[in-house]
Amino acid sequence: MNDPDLQEKVAVVTGATGNLGRALCRALLDRGAKVALIARDNRALEALQEALGAQDRTAGFAIDLGEANAVQNGMDRIVERFGGIHILVNAVGGFRMGPPLHETAVEDWDQMMAINARSVFMSCKAAIPHMLAAGGGQIVNISARAARQGKGRMGPYCASKAAVIALTESLAEEHRDTGIRVNCILPGTLDTPQNRAALPDADYRCWVSPEALSDVVLFLISEAARAIQGASIPVYGRS
Ligand SMILES: NC(=O)c1ccc[n+]([C@@H]2O[C@H](COP(=O)([O-])OP(=O)(O)OC[C@H]3O[C@@H](n4cnc5c(N)ncnc54)[C@H](OP(=O)(O)O)[C@@H]3O)[C@@H](O)[C@H]2O)c1
Repeated sequence: MNDPDLQEKVAVVTGATGNLGRALCRALLDRGAKVALIARDNRALEALQEALGAQDRTAGFAIDLGEANAVQNGMDRIVERFGGIHILVNAVGGFRMGPPLHETAVEDWDQMMAINARSVFMSCKAAIPHMLAAGGGQIVNISARAARQGKGRMGPYCASKAAVIALTESLAEEHRDTGIRVNCILPGTLDTPQNRAALPDADYRCWVSPEALSDVVLFLISEAARAIQGASIPVYGRS
């Protein structure tokens, strides 16, 4: 019951070429969805589409989520290509460890807020009118464990991910009666090549695989989760 049949559904994945995005696109495709892949790097999008191997049900859209017109345009093109938007998963995001806050450059603050928070605002703003036209939809945002408790030298990141929770809750309230459900996930450390390289002594078995996180997304967009609205779900594995 919590493994959704996504035939006839159109899913948009932002950050599609990232660690989580790739696993998620595979999971959505395997359930029958048509999947629109969003990232900036066109070559990475083409490589992903090739690797996914379902060219008729995938399309890559090289869009900078910082550019309002490009995002609006992109969502319109997705609807032209696939006929609607039913699911939006915002896997876009980025992390940078910084100096203490008083030494943080304003540009670095702006960059964290842009990649993690503004990007979610931009994609939701452009996709929601299409979901309303379709009579409802599902939005899953990816925040982070660090949103719940600020950490030293991570102020801009923690603040930007906390903004994702607040946005999720605001959207959920706005759409209580429209048929659009909006939830977010707070991953702990993901098991990615980058994290393994950065933390060579860690016990990777305690981390969350992109596939395990994708399973939580699948649950949230399934009928079994129909009563869940505005939730922030911790997915920490054993980390
Ligand atoms: N990795 C972790 O341990 C961890 C822990 C907690 C939370 N998270 C969150 O989980 C999510 C997925 O993480 P991940 O490790 O899969 O990330 P990732 O591998 O770094 O991938 C990030 C993705 O976002 C895209 N992107 C970045 N800036 C963009 C922009 N301005 N416009 C459009 N696309 C953009 C990137 O593609 P382009 O560069 O081509 O644009 C890439 O596809 C993120 O929200 C992250 O913050 C991750």
